[in-house]
Amino acid sequence: TPQSRIRNFSIVAHIDHGKSTLADRLIQLTGTVAERDMKEQMLDAMDIERERGITIKANTVRIDYPAKDGHTYVLNLIDTPGHVDFAYEVSRSMRAVEGSLLVVDATQGVEAQTLANVYTAIEADHEIVPVLNKIDLPASDPERVKTQIEDVIGIDASEAVEISAKTGLGIPDVLEAIVKRLPPPHGGDPDAPLKAMLVDSKYDQYLGVICIVRIVDGTLKKGDRIRMMKTGGTYDVDDVGIYRPAMTGVDSLGPGEIGYLNASIKQVRDTRVGDTITHERKPCDKALPGFKPSIPVVFCGLFPVDTSDFEDMRDAIEKLALNDASFSFEMETSAALGFGFRCGFLGLLHLEVIRDRIEREYNIELITTAPSVVYHVHMRDGSQHDLHNPADMPDMSKISHIEEPRIKATILVPDDYLGDVLKLCQDRRGLQMDLTYVGGRAMAVYDLPLNEVVFDFYDRLKSVTKGYASFDYEITGYREDNLVKMQVLVNDEPVDALSMMVHRDRAEMRGRAMCAKLKDLIPRQMFKIPIQAAIGGKVIARETLSAMRKDVTAKCYGGDATRKKKLLEKQKAGKKKMRQFGKVDIPQEAFISALKMD
Ligand code: GTP
Repeated sequence: TPQSRIRNFSIVAHIDHGKSTLADRLIQLTGTVAERDMKEQMLDAMDIERERGITIKANTVRIDYPAKDGHTYVLNLIDTPGHVDFAYEVSRSMRAVEGSLLVVDATQGVEAQTLANVYTAIEADHEIVPVLNKIDLPASDPERVKTQIEDVIGIDASEAVEISAKTGLGIPDVLEAIVKRLPPPHGGDPDAPLKAMLVDSKYDQYLGVICIVRIVDGTLKKGDRIRMMKTGGTYDVDDVGIYRPAMTGVDSLGPGEIGYLNASIKQVRDTRVGDTITHERKPCDKALPGFKPSIPVVFCGLFPVDTSDFEDMRDAIEKLALNDASFSFEMETSAALGFGFRCGFLGLLHLEVIRDRIEREYNIELITTAPSVVYHVHMRDGSQHDLHNPADMPDMSKISHIEEPRIKATILVPDDYLGDVLKLCQDRRGLQMDLTYVGGRAMAVYDLPLNEVVFDFYDRLKSVTKGYASFDYEITGYREDNLVKMQVLVNDEPVDALSMMVHRDRAEMRGRAMCAKLKDLIPRQMFKIPIQAAIGGKVIARETLSAMRKDVTAKCYGGDATRKKKLLEKQKAGKKKMRQFGKVDIPQEAFISALKMD
């Protein structure tokens, strides 16, 4: 296909504004998928993506569209991940296309993720076509939303396309707008040495690793020997093709085209999103700019509740890692929790997704320990360690100082909620770097310790702003601070899964909150239990759980035997989720709840 007949685009939107519904309509209206094969959310492949409404891997689909000008155009839609944890992947896939449809729900208007996502598109130099969705609803107010788009985002919305992705109204206008208003790919030379961007890669059970590629220069064919410029790996291409959305082989891919290649690559780990692919024989001289590997920044321990699940869990983790290069793991043993894994993630959502998948797809119940960041521990003897796990903290007397990772956080929020946001950042040891106003919205830039963000910052931010804040961050470097390891002792025994690194000034507050929470979460036993937080040998907070007085079944009025039996059974089931510490049973949710701050 000549480049002038290609349009590559993505759809950016706030969650629930109708991105998937619109994508489905575009695919349907162009007959890309036969009506009987149509299912909802064609592009979200994994169940977990469908359920949680988030895209984790980039997906692509090629649509042939006969336009009103009599020519048939090739439209390539890339669906991108939509969460801050995967920000790097989003910005990469945005660089693989030239334009975006900006979908805004006309009953709601511009919201937090609309901004975050459209800014990524603007940064990638996209031409942007505003699309107002849900105009079938009586509450929709397209004129107001157009003004908002112009005021807040600063792009012309006078020719915004008004549609209902649900009824199909206006969809032909969207297709025409893509052809007329988005630019074709520019500058690619089919005879130049191959230069292609690796947009994403995923593992297929039958085919091995499949790479989504965008050709910039040159031509990619079956049988070519290729080289990944950053990782240095070389491979023979078994197959090239396009997604319609089913995989369909083609002879070659030329400049401006988006498709897949399959080259017997063993694992996703061998590929890097953003890498440049070229021919081994006749390589291009310069790689595409901006390559950076995604590295895990949040670590936690995952342990099976039932110790006999350990081997199955190893199997599950290895399988998941095949498809996810940014997820790392190694075996870990804990006195309290037994055998498990220390795992590294891009962020908290990434952690949740992996944990959910192990639990649901492999049916293994897990205990998650406190998420932690990577600390640089400098010893008095001059050596330095990366600390991934508070349990491995060396003896305090041997440590010279500890450094922690800091981030630059950008938060966009309507004025009304600004006070709460500033307070939250202050509470989390943040230093304000900038505060500006854009169309009724404030943009606050903070320097924050990553450690204060990994627990529940995002959840807190969402709740204090009713979901209207958008949040984005990048790691800026390491800085020394007064950090200590806080231990929790239940019945005088340390529970290593609850150990955490904290700032000295915040230790007491955290310790007290933790003890108070555990007191509520641990069921009373036949004896009195002290719950303590300590730094080194020094106790900084303490609660006492008093002993149980009566038999639990006493409250069943004595009489009803089946009821009594039911209660005992329920207790037995509850037991399975408990962990024994010395003589004390701690329910699983106590771990998770105790680690959340309010
Ligand atoms: P995520 O995948 O969760 O990010 O959301 P999304 O932006 O892809 O939104 P999705 O397409 O899943 O639509 C969200 C909800 O809005 C669904 O319940 C849709 O049925 C509904 N919806 C989408 N478009 C329209 C529309 O034009 N009119 C009406 N009335 N409802 C719509």
